[in-house]
Amino acid sequence: MADININSIWEDLSNQIKNCSKCILCKTRKNVVIGEGRRENCKLVIIGEGPGETEDEQGRPFVGRAGDLLTRFLNDARIPRDSIYITNIVKCRPPENRDPAKDETLACSDFLESQLLLLRPSLVITLGNPATKWFLGTSQGITRVRGNWVDWRGIQLMPTFHPSYILRQKIASEYNNLVALVRKDFASARMKLDALK
Ligand code: URA
Repeated sequence: MADININSIWEDLSNQIKNCSKCILCKTRKNVVIGEGRRENCKLVIIGEGPGETEDEQGRPFVGRAGDLLTRFLNDARIPRDSIYITNIVKCRPPENRDPAKDETLACSDFLESQLLLLRPSLVITLGNPATKWFLGTSQGITRVRGNWVDWRGIQLMPTFHPSYILRQKIASEYNNLVALVRKDFASARMKLDALK
């Protein structure tokens, strides 16, 4: 393993993702959103669904309104955004922010598998149903499974609510309840990170 250059593997993978045309999302994307953050000694990976409009424009994950809320959760839990890696199950924007279709998720799956193999995180947080389903194959909704740590191939994984779902809440008390639950989940991730040290 010593003479394998990890940076060149990342570069190869990034080029494959950038040039991918395995599903129809490549026809409408402006930019591919590969992911960003810490790659070496990365303890935590956060996985969303797919790029939204701002992410598609900038080629970066979670930089729109949902990203602002995610960054707030990270800050509240004292988890620096640049200390983790953030990506999505699909790397191109589904039009109108619809959920990624099964064939689109499948077409992108090898990329996420490769990213996880290279990152080898201790912890994963999945945001929302599609990302959680990718890992756990569960049909149980996010409300049931959120906040629970489970083992996924030796990685500790916890689902929580997607920030976009929280932002769609129209009733203040519901919004506040979800924010409180996600803050709790990120505090739990902070404790897990501390325990790894
Ligand atoms: N929602 C996601 O699931 N991913 C992003 O990168 C942005 C919004």
